[in-house]
Amino acid sequence: MELHPITKAIRTQSERTAQMEHSSPLFLTSSFVFDSAEDMRAAFADETDDNIYSRFSNPSVKEFVDKVCALEGAEAGYATASGMSAIFATFMALLKQGDHLVSFSAIFGSTHTVITKFLPRYGIETSYIDVNDPTGWESAIRPNTKMIYLETPTNPGLDIIDLEKISALARKHDIILNVDNCFATPIGQRPVDLGADLVVHSATKWMDGQGRVLGGVVVGKSELIYDIYLYCRSTGPAISPFNAWVLSKSLDTLDVRMERHASNAVFIAKSLEGHPKIKSLKYPFLPSHPQYEIAKKQMFNGGGIVCFDLAGGLESGRNFLNNLALLSLTANLGDTRSIASHPASTTHAKLSEKERLSVNITPGLIRISVGLEYREDILNDILQSLDKS
Ligand SMILES: Cc1ncc(COP(=O)(O)O)c(C=O)c1O
Repeated sequence: MELHPITKAIRTQSERTAQMEHSSPLFLTSSFVFDSAEDMRAAFADETDDNIYSRFSNPSVKEFVDKVCALEGAEAGYATASGMSAIFATFMALLKQGDHLVSFSAIFGSTHTVITKFLPRYGIETSYIDVNDPTGWESAIRPNTKMIYLETPTNPGLDIIDLEKISALARKHDIILNVDNCFATPIGQRPVDLGADLVVHSATKWMDGQGRVLGGVVVGKSELIYDIYLYCRSTGPAISPFNAWVLSKSLDTLDVRMERHASNAVFIAKSLEGHPKIKSLKYPFLPSHPQYEIAKKQMFNGGGIVCFDLAGGLESGRNFLNNLALLSLTANLGDTRSIASHPASTTHAKLSEKERLSVNITPGLIRISVGLEYREDILNDILQSLDKS
């Protein structure tokens, strides 16, 4: 019987122990024992799949990775301590001096730092293409381009990149397509089905869903994952088995949580659109979104993030945060509890105004990570804060 990916993920579990537990146990151990020197030799020689050391593999980590593979429709994966270590591992394992990486101008801040400050130190060329100008995408490809890296929807601007279009370009030029699927989650979008070779996640966000642990994961084509595994096995960005166990449990409810996050977000977006203090509002599944047609084509829901631009700019943004009573002011997203952030005065404050505008971060941009509270309560807090701001 062919199972649906959601069922497959829920039913994926590390091998049952002699205790016959129903819920899978936590394998909080650094290393694993062998019955004999010969068994240990064979494991080190890769002649068996036996676990050796948790920097290489661990049953709790494998369970988490296998679940993400089931949800993403991917062949293999490797989990890391954070989303950033997963992203960095894909670059370091698959690119070398003289290679070229293409990315999009709208990208998560730390990824931008890695691409612009660290990769060039290793002789890896990098360049950006404009999310909003698809006609220019192909001209960015050079003879030495080895990887296209992108986020869709982007953080925080919610730009949508056409995955079918970019994967056709990647295939044509034999380039690895690496997609950060953190905002959509595999419940909202499956990049592998649309031609991506690799999918990375900050599991810290919607996958955990309750703001407890850091984690990252990369899934995709087996031969690429094997190279990433070899790089990570020696360099050590492994996830803690405890965090993997927490994340594995969380994935069992990802589908129901994302459904509610998305339906709450649609409600908030529709209720706020046209508010006199809001200059513009973005949500992927509202017809007013500039890439609405693409979002509808490649996403199953619009996700849990709503962005809007306050007419009053930077000062209104700060006031809006100060006047909230319910929503949390915190540097995270994808929690049960709704979160508001003002990128121009916080995460992106170090960028010049020109740099911020080039990635659609306007002075009054507010990002709401819509939680699971009763939707009217979330809306009322936002409306009251808008009134006072
Ligand atoms: C889109 C995106 N990618 C990657 C990351 C990095 O993840 P982590 O904080 O788990 O390293 C984040 C964090 O906010 C993110 O929003």
